[in-house]
Amino acid sequence: MSSRIAQKLILVGAPGAGKGTVAKGLVDRFGLTHLSTGDMLRTAATAGTEVGLAAKVFMDQGQLVPDAVMVKLIAERVQEPDCRSPDGSPRFLLDGFPRTLVQADALQSEGLAPDLVVFLDVPGEAIVRRLSGRRTCPVCGNSHHVEFAPPTVEGCCDRCGSALIHRTDDHEATIRHRLATFEAQTSPLISRYGAVTERVDANQSPQAVLKAAVAVLRAYGVPLLDEKGPLGQA
Ligand code: AP5
Ligand code: MG
Repeated sequence: MSSRIAQKLILVGAPGAGKGTVAKGLVDRFGLTHLSTGDMLRTAATAGTEVGLAAKVFMDQGQLVPDAVMVKLIAERVQEPDCRSPDGSPRFLLDGFPRTLVQADALQSEGLAPDLVVFLDVPGEAIVRRLSGRRTCPVCGNSHHVEFAPPTVEGCCDRCGSALIHRTDDHEATIRHRLATFEAQTSPLISRYGAVTERVDANQSPQAVLKAAVAVLRAYGVPLLDEKGPLGQA
């Protein structure tokens, strides 16, 4: 573990491991800018941009979008002011990038290698159940689950009230394809980043997973937004 404060953070985990769910809790507590490449691509697809519509074809089949597209998307996004700390150094929480060794090399060459990688570890058999029951908010990106995290009002996002959707890639055959893609192309990143990777058992309740992830960030010196904040409730 480095004695420096970690500022460039990455969440790695299989589809449905809970990256988006944990990221929301970490953003609330640490004030990090959350960069989910999946959310960025879905927003672009809904807006009908050229990149978004091209990406949707890959996403709907559970395949990765080409590296060159993803590298450009992130290289541009991390230049924005909300990805900088007050002294101008990069500060962000990446979710879903890098997903291949080529993407990791690109991050490295931009001087953006991570200070901390949180690996959310969940056995494959739990994933299908999680993703087939997931309902997502297309407006604010919030995630619910029909069984594990049901919304207060059926079919409506707890955060913004919009109608929840069933993602087109959250059907069983596509989920299994995404899992195979993770094993083949993304899991090698865990050894690549071994020196700065911390494993979190993500096969527990969302509250327990968040509490473990908060403890990891604290151990790497990431300051809470408010040191008197709701850490005990994590
Ligand atoms: P992306 O949107 O990143 O999908 P993913 O990695 O497959 O992960 P998910 O968002 O499906 O799951 P999650 O880990 O965020 O879990 P969540 O918190 O929602 O990417 C989609 C596609 O975009 C890719 O397939 C690819 O095509 C493309 N893409 C994106 N980035 C790319 C890149 N860098 N390169 C190339 N292509 C790229 O939780 C899941 C469900 O489980 C929810 O319902 C939640 O409520 C529930 N849940 C969460 N935690 C728990 C828990 N502890 N216990 C029980 N239920 C839980
Ligand atoms: Mg996600």
